[in-house]
Amino acid sequence: MFASLKALPADPILGLLAKYKEDTNPQKIDLGVGVYKNEAGHTAILDCVKKAEKFRLDTEDTKVYIGPTGSPLFNEKMTNLIFTPDHQVIANNRVRTVSTPGGTGALRVAAEFINSCKNNATIWVSNPTWANHQGVFQAAGLTVKTYPYYDYENKCLDFDGMLNALKEVGGDDVVLLHACCHNPSGMDLNNEQWQQVAEVAKTVGFMPLIDMAYQGFGQGLDEDAYGLRLMADSVKEMIVCSSCSKNFGLYRERIGACSLIGETALSADIAFSVLLSDIRCNYSMPPAHGAAIVETILNSDELTAQWHIELKEMRNRINGNRQVIVDKLIENGVTRDFSFITRQSGMFSFLGISPEQVQRLQDEFSIYMVGSSRMSIAGISQSNVDYLAQSIAKVL
Ligand code: LMR
Repeated sequence: MFASLKALPADPILGLLAKYKEDTNPQKIDLGVGVYKNEAGHTAILDCVKKAEKFRLDTEDTKVYIGPTGSPLFNEKMTNLIFTPDHQVIANNRVRTVSTPGGTGALRVAAEFINSCKNNATIWVSNPTWANHQGVFQAAGLTVKTYPYYDYENKCLDFDGMLNALKEVGGDDVVLLHACCHNPSGMDLNNEQWQQVAEVAKTVGFMPLIDMAYQGFGQGLDEDAYGLRLMADSVKEMIVCSSCSKNFGLYRERIGACSLIGETALSADIAFSVLLSDIRCNYSMPPAHGAAIVETILNSDELTAQWHIELKEMRNRINGNRQVIVDKLIENGVTRDFSFITRQSGMFSFLGISPEQVQRLQDEFSIYMVGSSRMSIAGISQSNVDYLAQSIAKVL
């Protein structure tokens, strides 16, 4: 059976990690996969996570099956974090949340659920979007189409193009929106633009699927959820996929959530039963450890306060790096205007250089970024930024 297979290329994002690890150049820089790194280039475990894990180790008393929904406490805490406890969708009992194996697991079960609602449904994703979105949605049987989003020439949002395209999508289509920290462009909708998109969603009737992988990495926990909360106020049905990989630094624990909003409590219950069946036929039930860490933190005022401080530190470091790299490029004689990097948000930015230049950075300077010239800003530090700016100047 295997004999007919042809080897596939490595994943465009994860494949970089392996190459980076093999590289023996002491000056190598990893700007590939979206993980937070401190000044020393290390992805450390948050202190609040360490404390929650200790608590978990001391108090856990069973390893029995957890069930397809995952931990009820985690689900409740995440729902409150995403929407705020006084949001009308919670007050009206219209949200149902499950724990999932990471944000990708959330997207996959959301896609399976959408396919259960409408076989081969069309989902519209931004051009560009996270490299794995298309694969995840297609694997679940959905048809993927794109709407304009990023204006590559002017390094800004193509908002008119986006809005016009969304006005034309089908009433029973799904539209994927990034809640914040758009991956890969770093270019987010502002509050007024969210209001316009919410109006279009309401008029056209499409269902928004909101991917929130970076809550707290853009402007703040509430600011980053502004568009999502507004959208939840505007539409009858919606799905949110969220991740604890970045904001809790729990990457390898694989913990995220999928939240369904139904038009009524009854329709939410019915939809939820279908979602649970999709999960049961897929991975059966989610892993428990990451959820236990997150719920322990969110259930403790002290640990939550500590988490807020640690999250702010990560956010501020990344945002600070944006100005640092722009200044260093100027210092190294680069005349091309890269100031757009400071107007973007979250983990990523498009440098806007050619695939050949990206490849030269990798081959000649051991600097790793995704082929689209997506840079993970978190990989920049005081100790590597001069070398990075000089190398970019050379390939330009
Ligand atoms: C990324 O975009 O780099 C992250 O979301 C990690 C991943 O799984 O691709």
